[in-house]
Amino acid sequence: MHNRAAYMTSLKEMEIREIKVPTPTEDQVLIKLDYVGICGSDVHYYEHGKIGSFIVNGDFILGHECAGTVVEVGHSVKNLKVGDKVALEPGSTCGQCEYCKGGKYNLCPDVEFLATPPYDGCLMNYIVYPGNMAFKLPDHVSTKEGALVEPLAVGLHAATQGGVKLGDTVVVLGAGCIGLMTLLACKAFGAIEVIVVDVIEKRLEFAKKLGASFVINAKHEDIRSRVEELTGGRGVDIVFETAGSEFTIQQTPYLIRRGGSIVLVGFAPKDIIEYDFMQILMKEAEIKSVFRYRNLYPAAIGAIADGKIDVKGMITHEFNFEDSKKAFDFVIENKNDVVKALIKI
Ligand SMILES: NC(=O)c1ccc[n+]([C@@H]2O[C@H](COP(=O)([O-])OP(=O)(O)OC[C@H]3O[C@@H](n4cnc5c(N)ncnc54)[C@H](O)[C@@H]3O)[C@@H](O)[C@H]2O)c1
Ligand SMILES: [Zn+2]
Ligand SMILES: [Zn+2]
Repeated sequence: MHNRAAYMTSLKEMEIREIKVPTPTEDQVLIKLDYVGICGSDVHYYEHGKIGSFIVNGDFILGHECAGTVVEVGHSVKNLKVGDKVALEPGSTCGQCEYCKGGKYNLCPDVEFLATPPYDGCLMNYIVYPGNMAFKLPDHVSTKEGALVEPLAVGLHAATQGGVKLGDTVVVLGAGCIGLMTLLACKAFGAIEVIVVDVIEKRLEFAKKLGASFVINAKHEDIRSRVEELTGGRGVDIVFETAGSEFTIQQTPYLIRRGGSIVLVGFAPKDIIEYDFMQILMKEAEIKSVFRYRNLYPAAIGAIADGKIDVKGMITHEFNFEDSKKAFDFVIENKNDVVKALIKI
């Protein structure tokens, strides 16, 4: 066995280096990674070196959307055996704080999240990982699909926070990977009409292929009047903001019906944004938010295994591990074309 990792050495620079194969402790497993997805946050670190207060300091390994095969199992790990295919949930939490104990472990202040400084990511051949955060994939679910469980979990958490149920009508603002995963999640939860909004025609075509009932190109159409028209003036039950723009966040209160829900997912570049709270009050609307996900890997894997959600259609590009730098540069230069790029380790 020999191990290599792709290190980000400075902005937009990457280098593959030999590293040691790590040894699992008693509650860890050693995983041979097969696929790592490139996420918007990885690209942001690669291009800008930081996200908010998380700053890349020195050489850094990107990647947090991954799946592979178990090659060694620590003594006390009971849920996995050598040869199992697994998807790794990227956040390891303390298990002791009120959030962990209360089941909302995504809010643990001491989380160690892959590829979030100072914690390295998984763009490497072999990684050790806590056995209880490695989720077994059924035989007929590939590790390629396994690498997409992470962004799917965000979409599922969004739909859960929004309380989507059979018969609901929904607007998804933004048709990037997260918006499209939210679309898939809403459909799986029983939404009957999903309207997807973006400014890139190619992404809207993608949304239609994945089951959007209507699409709105916000470059050419007024979102508010088009949603009014499509819903007979009522508005939708739930609106998801996944575009992460000031403008789309500001649109949310106008798109929902009275008593409807708003789910904020996208991170806007600006922290403080002008917003029509009078609409919220007059409609007795609810605002929810999403920070990653919790307790959803089994459901995500089950939905893929059962055919309820097809994530394969989301993959637009694939690169070899040796071409990791090329892959990141390509994603930056072809933002409109790439929905999800994977690196095959
Ligand atoms: N809350 C969380 O836990 C969480 C998790 C993952 C990602 N995110 C955030 O979710 C957002 C989406 O992630 P992504 O990977 O899909 O990003 P992305 O950039 O691929 O997708 C954003 C989409 O929004 C569209 N958009 C931008 N401005 C718009 C406008 N004015 N009107 C309509 N559409 C517009 C873009 O064209 C793009 O297709 C990002 O802000 C990301 O940081 C949040
Ligand atoms: Zn991600
Ligand atoms: Zn905790």
